[in-house]
Amino acid sequence: MAIDQRFLDELTARCDIVDVVSRYVALKKSGSNYFGLCPFHNEKTASFSVAPDKQIFHCFGCGAGGGVISFIMKIEGLEFQDAVRHLARQQGMEVPETGVSREDRKNRDRLLALMKDAGRFYYAQLHHPQNAAALQYFVRRGLSGKTMNRFGLGYAPDSFHALMDAMQAKGYTKAELDAAGLIGRSKQGTYYDKFRNRVMFPIIDIRGDVIAFGGRVMDDSTPKYLNSPETYIFGKSRNLFAMNLAKKTKNDYFLLAEGYMDVIALHQAGFDSAVASLGTALTEEQARLMSRYTNEVVICYDADNAGQKAAQRAIDILNRAGLRVKVLRIPGAKDPDEFIKAKGPEAFRKLIERSENHIEYRLQRIRDRYDMTEDEQRIGYLNEAAEELAALDNEIEREVYTGRVAKDAGVSVDSLKIQVEKALNQRRRRQKTRQRREVRAPAQHAQPNSREMRYENVPAARAEEGMISLILADNTLLGTIRAQITPEDFTSPDLRSIFEEMCRMEDEEHPITVTAFEGRIAPEQMDLLTRAVQRCYVSRDRRGQAMEDYLQIMRKTRLSRRTAEGQDPMLELAGLMKKKKRYQGPQG
Ligand code: CTP
Ligand code: MN
Repeated sequence: MAIDQRFLDELTARCDIVDVVSRYVALKKSGSNYFGLCPFHNEKTASFSVAPDKQIFHCFGCGAGGGVISFIMKIEGLEFQDAVRHLARQQGMEVPETGVSREDRKNRDRLLALMKDAGRFYYAQLHHPQNAAALQYFVRRGLSGKTMNRFGLGYAPDSFHALMDAMQAKGYTKAELDAAGLIGRSKQGTYYDKFRNRVMFPIIDIRGDVIAFGGRVMDDSTPKYLNSPETYIFGKSRNLFAMNLAKKTKNDYFLLAEGYMDVIALHQAGFDSAVASLGTALTEEQARLMSRYTNEVVICYDADNAGQKAAQRAIDILNRAGLRVKVLRIPGAKDPDEFIKAKGPEAFRKLIERSENHIEYRLQRIRDRYDMTEDEQRIGYLNEAAEELAALDNEIEREVYTGRVAKDAGVSVDSLKIQVEKALNQRRRRQKTRQRREVRAPAQHAQPNSREMRYENVPAARAEEGMISLILADNTLLGTIRAQITPEDFTSPDLRSIFEEMCRMEDEEHPITVTAFEGRIAPEQMDLLTRAVQRCYVSRDRRGQAMEDYLQIMRKTRLSRRTAEGQDPMLELAGLMKKKKRYQGPQG
């Protein structure tokens, strides 16, 4: 049940973001913005910023961002509606309730029933003789029938309405299917099944209810996975894949993997405490969820660089939730799935036994690169290890591991201590310069923080981001832009949703501001939106030119996408001309 937009406008107008954030973060003014230590990730220099003019916050380090409601959702771990209530209470405002709770429960039950029926539909399709190729796909990837059933795997047929028809025959409405995120709506207003020709992984919550789906293509096409959007019943940052099974484990540790397929392979091999986050980097909420069932988590992320980087971040988040952390390294395979297939469950069990606590893991990663029999190499190792030791927050840990490294490399503890001290000082200086640089040029990382949102076409996505921040800077540009491009022209699905929402706001004659997006888009999309605003600043007199530039890139991208899809670019040109005529019509 949506909260009245006028009420939200009133609430966000009354809550000054600097006031609200200040209750949790010590802020310092610098220029027209405020800075402080980010409450959403571990850091020692301030990369968390608050912009009072736009009423937004944004962290240059972890990418979190949004308006005042997003901030409360994140910091208090609340759902949108509860965050609104929380703020309203502080302001002495009453949230207009329309018999919400009973209505809510009914809606929720209805959606859950729908998701279960959809899961059954996909399951039946997987076992339909007509879709043998889908079943074959899972078989080829080594899954037994038992495993497929345990995870309720399915298949979404290659049709725009198979699911819709089946669900409507069961009495569900299109509006309900839409609210469940299972169907989409085209420009012409016709509905279509979102998941088509994909093998389906139901996402099941702690209570055993199907709350979302992930769908994978069976070839190399993109996107590889399509996931349910955030819905009334599904928040991806609060759930973990296979948690419904893992919570019953007898193991005293959980295994945390990256992919659905990894988790399934692990369970099949007997590791029944494996879970995965849902396409996004691990969140605090997911860490807390695990900590309700276990004290120890063994991270088994992909062996590639991205996976190892993600592991480093996950270590901190898990530690903060009070969990003991070990990190498992997978030699000679890209992920747990591949490793188990190649070397078998016993070999994997050995890996778990040998997995290192997080400090050992980091030190070992460094040691691997040096030949300790050579003096010069040993010095290199000691220097790098000193840096790692300097990065430890806990002084006792620093002491213990400094001792170990010194012994390992055959030098005195005191000399290594001096080296660590030096590294500590250097670190502090570096952080200061980095902070200064970040504030001046925040546009360093082109990719969103969320893995799932990763841009497939970076130059195009940057133009799309630019377009979005232009519209926020000057709402009147949207008219011209809409006449030339459509949401389909966006290559990033998340930026597309943001653009669609902008069009909706324009149609509702609601001002398009970052705060107006609160509750309308997913939290990760909110991060993305704020990030775009923060880094694509264009001065007033350059906006017209910037718009032309972005439009040109987007049109070019459209053209090359069509060509790549095998369509005749001439047809596209004709389409462009038609569109232009339509646009000029009312004026001429
Ligand atoms: N993911 C996603 N969307 C994508 C790519 C990945 O949501 N476009 C998420 C999925 O949850 C996926 C996880 O990130 O399971 C890890 O991605 P990847 O390693 O690419 O997938 P695997 O599950 O390992 O799939 P496979 O082994 O089939 O390649
Ligand atoms: Mn993988």
